[in-house]
Amino acid sequence: MTLISNSIHNAITILNKEQVIGIPTETVYGLAGNIYSQKAIQSIFTIKQRPTFNPLIVHIKSIQDLSQIARDIPEKALELAAAFWPGPLTLVLKKQSSIPDLVTGGKDTVAVRVPNHPLTLALLEQLAYPLAAPSANPFGSISPTKAEHVTAYFHDTVPMVLDGGACERGIESTIIGFENGEPVVYRLGSLAIEDIVAIVGTVKMMTRDDTTPIAPGMLSRHYAPLTSTLLTANVFELLETFSMQKIGVLVFQNEIYNQKITAQEILSPTGDLTEAASQLYAALHRLDKLNLDLIIAERFPDVGVGKTINDRLQRATKK
Ligand code: TXA
Ligand code: MG
Repeated sequence: MTLISNSIHNAITILNKEQVIGIPTETVYGLAGNIYSQKAIQSIFTIKQRPTFNPLIVHIKSIQDLSQIARDIPEKALELAAAFWPGPLTLVLKKQSSIPDLVTGGKDTVAVRVPNHPLTLALLEQLAYPLAAPSANPFGSISPTKAEHVTAYFHDTVPMVLDGGACERGIESTIIGFENGEPVVYRLGSLAIEDIVAIVGTVKMMTRDDTTPIAPGMLSRHYAPLTSTLLTANVFELLETFSMQKIGVLVFQNEIYNQKITAQEILSPTGDLTEAASQLYAALHRLDKLNLDLIIAERFPDVGVGKTINDRLQRATKK
């Protein structure tokens, strides 16, 4: 059984024993361990059933710690860190030799961010080491945005989840790497590309490639519910083509009235994309538990974090 608690003291005790715990961040919950403990990092990969070539994100308490993790940091990386940390931005940088290969999947780069959650920042302040943390879900499935999502996945294998409530952003961090000092987007996330462009100018997109994914979050099927899922600009029209028993729909703002609908999730009745993003995974978790024959999701406006929502819904449709 997993302990759900907001005790930082308990969290430290378990982490110092080289075990892993669930931690809250503003994006999604992470499965965290000491980056310097081979035992802890190994158990993260085992618990998540994640291939060890898929590297982890290092979580640090402030930008001051960045030089212990990365070297030869491009100017634009520093500008982005100064603008958005603590926050939902992960930078992929050249790694310091002290960062274990197990954490970086043998790469000479390391992914690093300062998460923006008061409990986890307080925890990092009191630890003598940074925390490696992938999202706390089995490889390929929907990321957790509540402590209960983590325990539903891992109640046999994770001793504790530090409970920080529902994640404010609800979608993973945006991942930026660098080519000759210029930013490249590896994964869309809860920091909008428009906000990044406002700081460093145009950025190159490199977010979809199944053959040689730089960030395996780029694999086209990812963030996926077990239930078959379709994405469409017109939910009502698509509904007309089905005669199945149980259909769930997921929409942005406006409820759809149709007798074929068994369950409906409306992500933001006021039409706020940030709110919709924060609700997306929890809504998918709920729909996925209903034994539906099909989930039909509505395509979101392709601006700001709406782009990220569409990216995740698109990946959820892949088999
Ligand atoms: O919001 C988040 O980023 C959450 C919270 C817990 O911080 N973490 C998260 O971790 O989403 P994870 O492991 O689920 O996704 C991290 C992604 C993976 O796709 C991984 O391949 C990529 O980051 N990544 C990590 N290190 C990398 C590196 N050196 N080069 C390229 N991609 C890297
Ligand atoms: Mg993940």
